[in-house]
Amino acid sequence: MTIVKVDLKSTPYHIHIKPGLLQDIPDMLAPFARNGRLLFILDSNVEKHVWPALKRQCEAASLILETFVLPVGEGAKSWDHLEHLTDWLLSHHTERGDSIVALGGGVVGDITGFAAHILKRGCGFIQIPTTLLAQVDSSVGGKTAINSKAGKNLIGAFHQPAMVLIDPEVLVSLPPRELAAGIAEVVKYGLIDDAEFFDWCESNMQQFMAGDLVIRSEAITRSVSAKARIVAEDEKELTGKRALLNLGHTFGHALEAETGFSDRLLHGEGVACGMGLAFRYSARLGLCSEDAAQRISELLARADLPTTLKQAGCDVDGQKLVDHMLHDKKMSGGTLPFLLARGIGETFLSADVDLADVAEFLNEERAR
Ligand SMILES: NC(=O)c1ccc[n+]([C@@H]2O[C@H](COP(=O)([O-])OP(=O)(O)OC[C@H]3O[C@@H](n4cnc5c(N)ncnc54)[C@H](O)[C@@H]3O)[C@@H](O)[C@H]2O)c1
Repeated sequence: MTIVKVDLKSTPYHIHIKPGLLQDIPDMLAPFARNGRLLFILDSNVEKHVWPALKRQCEAASLILETFVLPVGEGAKSWDHLEHLTDWLLSHHTERGDSIVALGGGVVGDITGFAAHILKRGCGFIQIPTTLLAQVDSSVGGKTAINSKAGKNLIGAFHQPAMVLIDPEVLVSLPPRELAAGIAEVVKYGLIDDAEFFDWCESNMQQFMAGDLVIRSEAITRSVSAKARIVAEDEKELTGKRALLNLGHTFGHALEAETGFSDRLLHGEGVACGMGLAFRYSARLGLCSEDAAQRISELLARADLPTTLKQAGCDVDGQKLVDHMLHDKKMSGGTLPFLLARGIGETFLSADVDLADVAEFLNEERAR
């Protein structure tokens, strides 16, 4: 078992990673089961693919289980579902001493964490992420949220889990497209500040895609270690350090908005294309080499991720995409902080990007 510490001053916690960890989970959860009872929140895909084995093991350990099943997809991160979930938790007499377990992808983790934050002014919660994206990104760091009419993740809070339990074996049932979406976030950590990890991704992508559990575990461990380090430095995104985790997200969110935040373009796919664009734009500004930008596109393409506007289904006017960016929640004081790069592993936050120039760049990109 690999254990990574998220070294926060007020709420430190551990991330446990091991293929086959599902079998150990009942023992690990037992100390968190108030009166022997655990409340699991999951979605209907997870109920089908992951829950049966975990349920059997928890029952064998004499744990009392209650489950709340959300519908699949981003639509579950809504006021309506939050109300149903909190009503259900209250009807089950959930106390602050309970630990609510989020078993699923980022959608389940985000709404469960937010419900735990607001219920009785803060209940405990545990993350058991079951998508690659959730295992390497959303389950760590304590950002929780639902969506509103005005945009994604605009209603939320920081609420750290008591622990994160990651079993890379549960990815076996994940659809290939969802797996690829998570790979984008893995590659992101190399691009931010770890060129050696990017090289490692290049060397090991084939085995990762083929399902090699040793390689998958190492990729997950290195990713969460990077996220834990950055979050420990800047838990609430105040110093600019945590903002580096948004590499590819400004372009990516614009692409997601253009495709209606739907399964036409998954979040990770938007991030992949966004990272390609951020590096090509950096190359255009003379900040990094064309070669670096090319290497990134090649690696992402090997993971079946989109790297051009056409592949992302966004062959539209550049100004339209810039307009989407201006609605991004990361707008600060009327300016849009942009993540650019001086090379692989050398991402930085730039506050003075000319948006008219970005629109022109995006129009040039349409020819790819
Ligand atoms: N909190 C954060 O820091 C953070 C960071 C990144 C993304 N997010 C959020 O995460 C969400 C996206 O997360 P996601 O990509 O995990 O999406 P998701 O939760 O919708 O899961 C993707 C799909 O995989 C299915 N699934 C989950 N586990 C499975 C398994 N083991 N086998 C088969 N199917 C399985 C789900 O039912 C769903 O259909 C977005 O809402 C995004 O805003 C949050």
